Formats: sequence, structure tokens, C-alpha cells
Amino acid sequence: MRILGIESSCDETGVAIYDDKEGLISHTLHTQIAMHAEYGGVVPELASRDHIKRVVPLVRLALEKANMKMSDLCAIAYTSGPGLIGALLSGAMEAGALAYALGVPCVPVHHMEGHLLAPMLEAEKPKLPFVALLISGGHTLLIKVEKPGVYELLGQSVDDAAGEAFDKTAKLLGIPYPGGPGLEKLAANGKSGAFVFPRPMIKNPNCDFSFAGLKTAVLNATIAHKDSLEEVKADIAKGFTEAMADTLEIKCKRALKQTGLKTLVVAGGVSANTDIRTRLQQLMDKIHGKAFFARREFCTDNGAMIAQVGMLRYQAGQLGDFKIKVHPRWPLSELKAL
Ligand code: KG4
Ligand code: ZN
Repeated sequence: MRILGIESSCDETGVAIYDDKEGLISHTLHTQIAMHAEYGGVVPELASRDHIKRVVPLVRLALEKANMKMSDLCAIAYTSGPGLIGALLSGAMEAGALAYALGVPCVPVHHMEGHLLAPMLEAEKPKLPFVALLISGGHTLLIKVEKPGVYELLGQSVDDAAGEAFDKTAKLLGIPYPGGPGLEKLAANGKSGAFVFPRPMIKNPNCDFSFAGLKTAVLNATIAHKDSLEEVKADIAKGFTEAMADTLEIKCKRALKQTGLKTLVVAGGVSANTDIRTRLQQLMDKIHGKAFFARREFCTDNGAMIAQVGMLRYQAGQLGDFKIKVHPRWPLSELKAL
């Protein structure tokens, strides 16, 4: 059985085909970065309109790469939330229309569950149960995963998400949208320890995060060095990344200790960051545990993660109807067990 997955929650249109036995068969992606870049961030209305244009050509391409016909598909999965409402509606409408025309079910998928299980797209899969660190543009979550669909929240950000902190810090340093990857490149030339920023909330004995203060500390550093900012920018980027990596490491360590688990799954856009991957890998090596990451292209938004979860929910009989329903806000805890 082969399912098509459509991702359209923000600024990337992703389409992929997933087979229940062979796994990922093909995937295609269109990024809207160039379109939004001149505005310095995502313009929701432009995003929605662009998704509408991109889905059908990407579906054709994904089918062509898989050497398949549309009629070979058993269902159409799509991101039903959380995300930008217009962008979600674009994908939901196209998925619904396609499923209806083909006479197959459509399957609504939770975007963050897609991210969370993206490391399962790799050959070596994490064994359940595990702790998952989800670090994206809108979420920073630590979750205990008993099994797919059963998600116990251990901690979350009380203010900015990790990706949001990367993006806002990048803006302060004059790095164009999207900030995270640009900040990583800049930090690669920075001196370690030249700037030491606060590690927020590490003394709190819980697994929650706070990144708003970190961003303010970077702002203060840029003001203090305004006359020589160009010379210290890379060092500031490095200092920011180190503070972020330290905080994530400390909270992951706490979550693993609290749950008694030794498997850590790291997913979401920020998990593409090499410094953060290295740090969390080192943590797991130290405690003789195992870390799992998605390949970099599946850390950020993509269709493969939606097709994979779509297949799981399809097999569990958790199908949608053809009503266009999206959930801009949607806690993971509301999902049904698989
Ligand atoms: O998971 P994602 O693609 O979309 C959401 O669901 O939000 O995450 C996007 C976030 C953005 O904030 C982006 O700046 C960040 O992930 N990001 C990175 C890197 N690549 C993407 N942050 C740090 N380093 C990167 N290499
Ligand atoms: Zn995402």
C-alpha cells in the first residue's frame, strides 16, 4: 500500500510517497524562502497562494519519481495542523479534492507528530519507549513517547521556541530570513567562549525552557559592541548557539533521568544544527545511551514525515472525512493512540 503525504503548514510545500513495507519511495519539496526573503519573514497570504500553485506539480513529480500512477495510491495524507491557517487550508483542500476524485480516504496528520517520528524514516530506528526533544520554529517540547500516538509532555518553552530564538537572534545580527541556517554558518567562524550568555531556567528543577532572556542578552551584546559589531558578530552567534546547546543538553539529561530512559530522539528544524546535534550526541555517548536524528533535509518541514505518519494513522483506521478541517493550534496530547 502506498500513501501520498502533503505538507503545507508554513513556507515549504512537501509531497512524498510512503509504502507500508518499503518505507519512503519518493519525496519532493518546494521552499518559499526566496519569495518571503524580501519581507524578512513568512507572509501568510503569499504562503497560502503559493502552496495552491505548487501541490499538483509536486504530486506529479513525486509519482513520476516513484514510477507510479495516481490510481496506485491507497490514501492521501495531509498536514491538518498546527500551522498557518491559510497554508493549512491550501493543503487540506488539495488533499481532500484529490482523495475524493480518486475515491480513497484522506488522512489528517499532526505536523509535530510528523517531526517527532521523522527519525523513523532512517534505516536505524529508535526503539520505544524514548524521550523526544522537538525543537522547531513554533515549539520546544520534551516528550516521553511510550508508543506512537501516546505522548506525555515533560516540559516545554514558557516563551519563545528554540527556532524562534534562532530567528530573532539572527535578525539582531543582520542575518536574512531564514535565520537559523544563516546563524549556524556565521557561528562556524566564531570563537567559543568569547561571549557567555545566560543559560535560562537551568536551575529550575523541571524540564521547561525559556529563551526570551537569551535573545535579550544578545540584544544587549549587540548594543554594547555597536561600533565593532562586524568583528564580533560570529563570536556572538557562537555564544548564542553554545547557550542554546547547553540549555537543551541540561534539560534532556533531566528528562532522561526522570523517565529512566536512555534513548533520545531529536527532531524539528533546529535539530539540523551541527553544534546542537554534536552536543546531544556527546550527552548520549556520556551516559551510554543512544541519540537519533533525522537526516538534515527531514529535520525541517517536508512531505516524507507526513506520508510516514499518514500511513500509521491510515493503518489504524484513523481517517478523515472530506470536510475541510484544519487546526492552527493542536496539542499533541489530543491525538489518539496508534
Ligand atoms: O521544523 P521547522 O522546519 O518548522 C516548524 O515546524 O516550525 O523549523 C523551522 C525552524 C526555524 O526557526 C529555523 O530557523 C530553524 O528551524 N532552523 C535552524 C536550522 N535550520 C532550521 N536553526 C538552527 N540551525 C539550523 N541549521
Ligand atoms: Zn515544522
